[in-house]
Amino acid sequence: MVTLIDSPTSAAVQPRLTIQTADIAAHTTAIRCLDWDRDRFDIEFELRHGTTYNSFLVRGEKTALIDTSHRKFEAVYLQQLQDLVDLRSLDYLIVNHTEPDHSGLIPDLLELAPQVTVVGSKVAIQFLEKLVHRPFESQIVKSGHSLDLGQGHGLQFISAPNLHWPDTILTYDSGTQVLYTCDVFGMHYCDDSLFDETPERLEPDFQYYYNCLMGPNARSVLMALKRIAPLQVGLVATGHGPLLQHHISHWLGQYDAWSQNQVKAETFVALFYVDGYGVSDRLVQTIADGISKTGVAIELVDLSVADTHEVRTLAQCAAGLVVGMPPQSSTSTTLDPLLGTILAAVHPKQMIGLFESGGGQDEPIYPLRNRFQELGLQEAFEPILLKTEPTAATDQLCREAGTDLGQYLTHKQSQQANTDLDPELNQVIGRLSTGLYILTAQKGDVRSAMLASWVIQGSFEPLGIVIAVAKDRAIESLLHPGDTFVLNVLEEDNYQSLMRHFLLRFPPGADRFAGVNTYPAQNGSPILLETLAYLECEVTSRLDGNDHWLVYSTIQTGRVAKLNALTATHHRKLGNHY
Ligand code: FEO
Repeated sequence: MVTLIDSPTSAAVQPRLTIQTADIAAHTTAIRCLDWDRDRFDIEFELRHGTTYNSFLVRGEKTALIDTSHRKFEAVYLQQLQDLVDLRSLDYLIVNHTEPDHSGLIPDLLELAPQVTVVGSKVAIQFLEKLVHRPFESQIVKSGHSLDLGQGHGLQFISAPNLHWPDTILTYDSGTQVLYTCDVFGMHYCDDSLFDETPERLEPDFQYYYNCLMGPNARSVLMALKRIAPLQVGLVATGHGPLLQHHISHWLGQYDAWSQNQVKAETFVALFYVDGYGVSDRLVQTIADGISKTGVAIELVDLSVADTHEVRTLAQCAAGLVVGMPPQSSTSTTLDPLLGTILAAVHPKQMIGLFESGGGQDEPIYPLRNRFQELGLQEAFEPILLKTEPTAATDQLCREAGTDLGQYLTHKQSQQANTDLDPELNQVIGRLSTGLYILTAQKGDVRSAMLASWVIQGSFEPLGIVIAVAKDRAIESLLHPGDTFVLNVLEEDNYQSLMRHFLLRFPPGADRFAGVNTYPAQNGSPILLETLAYLECEVTSRLDGNDHWLVYSTIQTGRVAKLNALTATHHRKLGNHY
C-alpha cells in the first residue's frame, strides 16, 4: 500500500516534501521521503529530478530500521515511523552509510529509542559517536558478519568501503533476498514510482549518479560487486530513487561495465586527500570532475583510512597525482608516513597538482611542493590554497585545474590518435566548412567562453541549434539542460582579435573576458560588443558524441548588428582538428 502525506510546510513557499510508505517484502516496509525540488547535492552534483531518501523497517522477532532520513523530514518521518512501530520496541538501527541525508535523524531516533543497538562499520560507529552527544549501544560489523532477526530474516553484512564514503556497508536479508545498499546503485530521481519499471527513463540519472559518486572509486565498486555476486538478489533497496526490482542484472551490469572501463584506462590520476577537514572533499571532488572531462580515469584515496600498500601502488602507477593537505595544525602522525610512502613511490614522468584547505597560518603545501619538484615531477597547476569557505569561483578554479592536468596527460595520446586517421578521409572531412562563433555562458558568478566552429541550425519549430562541445572544455559544465548561453556570431574580416583572445590558454580560474567589451544578455550571459549578431539560447538536451557533447538548444531571442555584413567562415584542410 502506498500512502502520501503532505508535509506541514506550505507548497507555495517551500520545496515539496512528501512521504511514501509501502510493503516491499515479507515483514518489510519501505519509508521513502520524497524531496521533489532539491536541485543540488554535495554542491557539485546538479539534480534534475529531485531525490528521495529511502529507509526500511524489517520486523522479525526482532525489529530493525535500516537507515533513517534527511533532517528536513524530521516531523513527517518520525511521525510515520511511530505510526508503523512502537519505537520503544525497536531493537536495531542498521547504518549502511553516515552521510547526513541518511543519518540526519539518528540523534532524534536515539532520543526516542535509547535502547536501540546501532549496527555499522567501524568508521560509521566512530562517526556517529561524534555526531550523537549521548552514549548508545553499538555493534561493529564487516563482511562475513550476520545478525538474526528471527522469522527467517537473517541479515548479512558486506563491507563496501569507498562507495562512496569509507564507512559504507551493504546489508542483505537472506529471508527476503532484499539487498539494502543505501547510496550504491541509487539515483537522484524523485517520483511516485516505487520500482524501476521503465529503465530507459531512469538510465541517464543512474549513469550521472554513478559518474559523480561511484566512478571515482571504480576499483572499490568492482570489489563490492565481487562480494555480492554469490547472493540471490530479488530486490535492491537503494537509499535514493526507485527500488530496483525489474532490471537488476542490467543495473548491476552497468556498474560492472563502467567500472571495468574505468580501471582498464591506461592513464589515471590518483587524488590523495584527507577527509574530515570541511572543504577538502569539495575541492578534491571538483578537481576530479575536471580531470574526468578529459577522459582520464581517477582514483580518490582518503589518506585517513587508506592502507600503505594501496597508497604505494597507486602512487607508483598513476600518470598524475593530486595531493590535498589539511592545515598544519591538523596533520596527524598517521598522515606523515603515508606522505612519505607517496614521496618514495613517485617518479619523474608523473605530473603533480597540490591543494591545501583549512585556512591556518602555516602552509605545509610548500615544503611538500619542493619535495615533489626535487623528485622531478612536473607541476600541472599552481598550488591551490584555500583560506576561506569555497565558492562557485573556487569550484571553477579547481575544475579547470583538474582539466588542465588531464589535458597534459592526454595530449600525447590524442596526437597519436589523430595521426591514425586514414589520410584521404582526413582530407575529405577537412572539406566540411563552418562559421566562427564565440559561445559565452554565465551561471551565478561563474562565466566562461569558447571559440566555437561546429555549429549548425538543428530545427525550425522550435528554432534550435546544435553545437559540438569537446567534453574537456571548461564551459561544458555550464551547458546542461536548462542552462542558458549566448552564441556570438563573428564577422568576416573583423574577427581576428576576438578569435586570438579566446584561443589563448587561460590559467585555471582566470577571467576569460578581461579586456573584452561585453554587456549582459537578457539571460545573463555576456554579449560581445564587437560581434556581428548574437543568439540567446537555452540548452534542451545533450547527445553523447564520444569526445564531444552535441548540445541541442532552443533559441530565445537574438539580434543582428550589421544587416549587410557576412559571418566569418572557417575552412580547414584536415578533419582531425578544428
Ligand atoms: Fe546519499 Fe552519500 O549520501
